[in-house]
Amino acid sequence: MEKKKTSFGTSIGFELAAAGSAVGLGNLWGFPYKTSANGGAAYLFMYLACILLVGAAAMLAEFIIGRRARANPVTAYKEISKNCGWFGLAVVVIPALIMCYYFVLGGYTVKYSLNSFAGNAGMFQRFAGNAGDVILHTAVFALLALAIVVAGVRGGIEKTSKILMPTMLVILVVIISFSLLLGEGVSEGLAFYLRPDFSAMSWSGALSAMGQAFFSLSLGCGAMICYGSYSGKKVNLFRSTAVICVLDSLLTFMVGLAIFPALFHYAAVSGVSTAELGMGGMGLMFITLPMVFEDMSVVGSTLSLLFFAMAAIAALTSVISILEVVTQFVIQKFRIFRTRAALLVTGICVALSVPVGLSFGAAMNGGSLMALFGRNLLEVLDMITNTILMPVCALFACLAVGWIIGPREAVKAISPERDGKAHRLLGLMLKVVTPLLIIVIEIFGIFDLIMPLDNGVRRFSADGCGIVVCAYGILLVCAVVYFAFLKNSDTGNNSDELQVDALEAERVKAGPSRGWYRPE
Ligand code: PFF
Repeated sequence: MEKKKTSFGTSIGFELAAAGSAVGLGNLWGFPYKTSANGGAAYLFMYLACILLVGAAAMLAEFIIGRRARANPVTAYKEISKNCGWFGLAVVVIPALIMCYYFVLGGYTVKYSLNSFAGNAGMFQRFAGNAGDVILHTAVFALLALAIVVAGVRGGIEKTSKILMPTMLVILVVIISFSLLLGEGVSEGLAFYLRPDFSAMSWSGALSAMGQAFFSLSLGCGAMICYGSYSGKKVNLFRSTAVICVLDSLLTFMVGLAIFPALFHYAAVSGVSTAELGMGGMGLMFITLPMVFEDMSVVGSTLSLLFFAMAAIAALTSVISILEVVTQFVIQKFRIFRTRAALLVTGICVALSVPVGLSFGAAMNGGSLMALFGRNLLEVLDMITNTILMPVCALFACLAVGWIIGPREAVKAISPERDGKAHRLLGLMLKVVTPLLIIVIEIFGIFDLIMPLDNGVRRFSADGCGIVVCAYGILLVCAVVYFAFLKNSDTGNNSDELQVDALEAERVKAGPSRGWYRPE
C-alpha cells in the first residue's frame, strides 16, 4: 500500500500557493523600475514573451521533478539519477541564501506599512541607518513566515495563500481605481506604460526581462520542486502552470497600472520632471513612491498603507515558499518535527540576515560596512543567487527533465491519460529552446559582472569576477558535500513528516516529550 504523504488539499490551494511564491517584491519593486528604464510597454511585452517562452516550460519541469518523487529536491534529483542529487542540494542552499536578504526587504515593507500615517517620505535613509529598527522589523517579518510554515503545508501555506492572494488582488484593484482617478498626469502615465517605445529597447533590456521573468516565477531555487512535490495526484500540472503564469503576469501588469499614473500625476502637479523622479532606479519603491503618497495627504497615507501592506503580503507569500524548501529538506533528512526544523532554519537565516541588513543600511547612507567585492552584502547575495545560480539551477531542471527523464516519461509521470503531442512540444522546449535562452541569460549576466559598463566603456572588474567565483564555489561545495555525505544515505520523502508526527503523537500519549525525535 502506498504511504500517505504530506500534500496540498486542493488544486486551487496549490495554484494560489505557487502564485503567491511567484508574486513578490520582484513584481512590485523590480518590474516597475526596470519597465521605466526600458521603454514602458516594450519591456512589458518582452517580459510576457519570456514568461511564455522560457518561464512556463521551466516551471513545468520543476513541478515534474517534484511531483514524480514527492520528496525534497535532493531526493527528487536523486530519483532522476544518483549523480544528479547535488543539483538538489544546490536548490536547497540557494533559497537559504535568498532568505537572508528577503527577510530584510520584508522587514522594510512591514516598517513602511506601519509608518504610513506618520509619513514615509525621506524615511529610507533614516530607517536603513537605524540598526535596531532594521533588525526588529526583519525579525517580525521572519516570525510571520515562521508561524505560517510551522502550521504546515495545508494548515499554514495553503490556508494563508487562499486568504492573502485574493486580499492582495482586491488591494491592487482599489489602488488602481484611486490611481486612475487622480486626474492630471494620469493619461501621460498610462501612455508611458501602455504605448511601447521600441527605440528604448535593447539587448540588455531583453536580458533583464528574461532574468526578471525567472526570478518572478521563483525558478531555479527549489520552490516549485517543493510545491510540486506537495501537489495532489489529481492536480493537472499543465493547467496549474498556465494558471500560475497568467496570475503572475496579470498581477505584474496591474502593478504597472497602479504605479505609473500616480507617478506621472505627481510629476504634473509638483512640477518635478519624470526624469528627476528616479523612476528607473531601485529607489522607486522605497524613496519615490513614499514622496508621491505624502503629496496626497490622508488619501496618500491610506494608499501608502494599502500599497506597503500589499508589498508585505507579496513578500510573505514568497518567502514562505523558500523557507518551506529548506524546512522540507531538514524534516525529511534529519527526521525532526516541522516546528523544530522551521525554527532552526529561520533562526539561522535571521542571524545571517542581520549583517546583510546592516551592510545594506550602511550602503544606503553612503558608507560601507562589511562590504564584499565592492558592494553591500544584500547586493552580493542578490547577484550570487538571482544573476548566477538561479539560471544555472533552472537549466539543470530543464536538462534533467528533457534529456534524462525524457519528455514522454515526464508527461506520463504527471498525467498518464495525456499522450499525443504534449510531450513533443515539451521536449522541444526543455531540450533546446529554454536551455539555450537560459544559457544566454547566464553568459550575459556573468559578462556584465566581469566587464561592467563604466562611463560607456566596458572595463574588467576584479570584484565582479570575485562574485562569479564565489557563486560557482558554492555549487562546488554542494557537489562535494553531496558526494561525501548524501549520495548513499537516505534523504527522505514526503511520507516521513506524517510518520514522524504519528510516532510522536503515540509518544506524547505515552509520556512527556523527550525532545528531538529520530526514528530508528
Ligand atoms: N518570485 C519572488 C519575487 O518575484 O519576488 C522571489 C522569489 C521567491 C524567488 C521565492 C525565488 C523563490 F524561491
